[in-house]
Amino acid sequence: VTLYVPRDSAAVAVGADELALALQEACDRRGQAVTIVRNSSRGMFWLEPLLEVATPQGRLAYGPVAADDVDGLLDAGLLSGASHPKCLGPTEAIPFLAKQERLTFRRMGITDPLSLDDYSAHGGWTGLRNALDMEAAAVVQAVTDSGLRGRGGAAFPAGIKWKTVMLAAGAQKYVVCNADEGDSGTYSDRMVLEGDPYMLIEGMAIAAVTVGATRGYVYVRSEYPAAVAVMREAIARAISAGFLGDNICGSAHAFHLEVRKAAGSYVCGEETAMLESIEGKRGIVRAKPPLPAISGLFGQPTVINNVITFASAANVLEKGAAHYRDFGMGRSRGTLPFQLAGNIKHGGLVEKAFGLTLRELLFDFGGGSASGRPIKAVQVGGPLGAYVPESKWDVPLDYEAYAAMGAVLGHGGIVVHDDRADMSRLARYAMEFCAIESCGKCTPCRIGSTRGVEVIDKITTNRDRTQQVTLLRDLCDTMLHGSLCAMGGMTPYPVLSALDHYPEDFGLAPAGAD
Ligand code: NAI
Ligand code: SF4
Repeated sequence: VTLYVPRDSAAVAVGADELALALQEACDRRGQAVTIVRNSSRGMFWLEPLLEVATPQGRLAYGPVAADDVDGLLDAGLLSGASHPKCLGPTEAIPFLAKQERLTFRRMGITDPLSLDDYSAHGGWTGLRNALDMEAAAVVQAVTDSGLRGRGGAAFPAGIKWKTVMLAAGAQKYVVCNADEGDSGTYSDRMVLEGDPYMLIEGMAIAAVTVGATRGYVYVRSEYPAAVAVMREAIARAISAGFLGDNICGSAHAFHLEVRKAAGSYVCGEETAMLESIEGKRGIVRAKPPLPAISGLFGQPTVINNVITFASAANVLEKGAAHYRDFGMGRSRGTLPFQLAGNIKHGGLVEKAFGLTLRELLFDFGGGSASGRPIKAVQVGGPLGAYVPESKWDVPLDYEAYAAMGAVLGHGGIVVHDDRADMSRLARYAMEFCAIESCGKCTPCRIGSTRGVEVIDKITTNRDRTQQVTLLRDLCDTMLHGSLCAMGGMTPYPVLSALDHYPEDFGLAPAGAD
């Protein structure tokens, strides 16, 4: 009998390792032969550790399962898929999963992350093989036609970026994956790094052969030690199997890939600070232009994309541009892995086509707040994203629709707060966060964030409140338009959205009142 216990950090944090050990010991004791596969996580974190049992009818899920539950489950006939209060039925019929449109996350929870056989058996390397059979320009065209835009948050068309690097002259081109996933409440990159590393390797290799790069780096957040270890092991295995190194897949193309552990600073996720960091320098933002696509790592043309962008590109090359483009709405094509976090009952990963609403995510998937209290504010798109009030929860999740209301989708992070949240404290926190993480290169961010904390303190303690609100708006305007990068440039989003939608938390008259 095959049992599955995830090895994802989120599952391990709540006892997956202990569960796997207890299962093995109990089955050995009982003389019951089992194979325990340490799979990736399905991304239903409130059910972790999720135990799955392979049955002739497919996998059955049990969760959350603690090591202490093992004997009771075995007594009840776990190995033959017996019913039990912890049994959730067929895994893929669980509504949270059944309602998703998993393209990039379709192997998640199903395969053993490091098994090359599993990866190949589930469509792996098809995209790379297809790309190797195509002209580079045709690969760029496919990525462009798919409508894929940068999933790190900025949503720049991936095909245009790849084309720029392809056409740029350079002695040594590079492909760099930005896996410095620093946004609050986000974990989709981590899940791929830990749970489907060959998909990232494949996406990066496709980019490399397309633009003519022979070297690449995966810049992984230092707080993700398991991701670093899995990626390193996956790269070693991919080299042995001929998917990386010289002559990848027997072709004339070489691609050498390495992992770089990031420097533990939020701003090192900004692409030019990341390049400085990989070059061994302090993570200070560079002025653009020149764009990294023209002059990036060590001054050479460089493709920089987020983990999910490369992963999506592998999917596009496997299934074709039209398949991917058929999902989504407007100019937001394909899917986004939304990550539900904060005060939410069912926290986890929801991959859906653009166009669903925040209300659907919060209630149909998330099941409402974890505390059972009314949801007051939802921060979408990381710590630099706006707080979205209930009046906007029916706006479709689409890059343009969000931009039109002064918000961002960013990297798909959704952090939920209930009615006990004090929005002035959250606005203050945004300024404080910017002050701590600022690289210090430009004045609006370096000085503005510290002044911002002081001004919010004056507002909340009613020292010249009206004048200080005007000052705060002025300051936000300067940061928005005068900062060199998104750190200072987007900090006004959470601050102004808190002030505009929740004025009473700042001691001001409610919105709409005179
Ligand atoms: P950006 O809009 O300046 O650039 C987006 C990308 O397109 C960059 O890679 C840039 O080099 C490239 N690009 C722009 N014009 C180009 C052209 N003509 N040809 C080729 N390439 C071109 O945005 P930026 O500053 O790179 O990213 C800001 C975003 O990062 C924010 O929207 C935020 O959502 C996101 N972010 C994500 C975080 C995460 O943890 N994933 C953390 C913090 C911010
Ligand atoms: Fe550095 Fe902040 Fe300026 Fe960005 S906005 S360059 S983080 S000082």
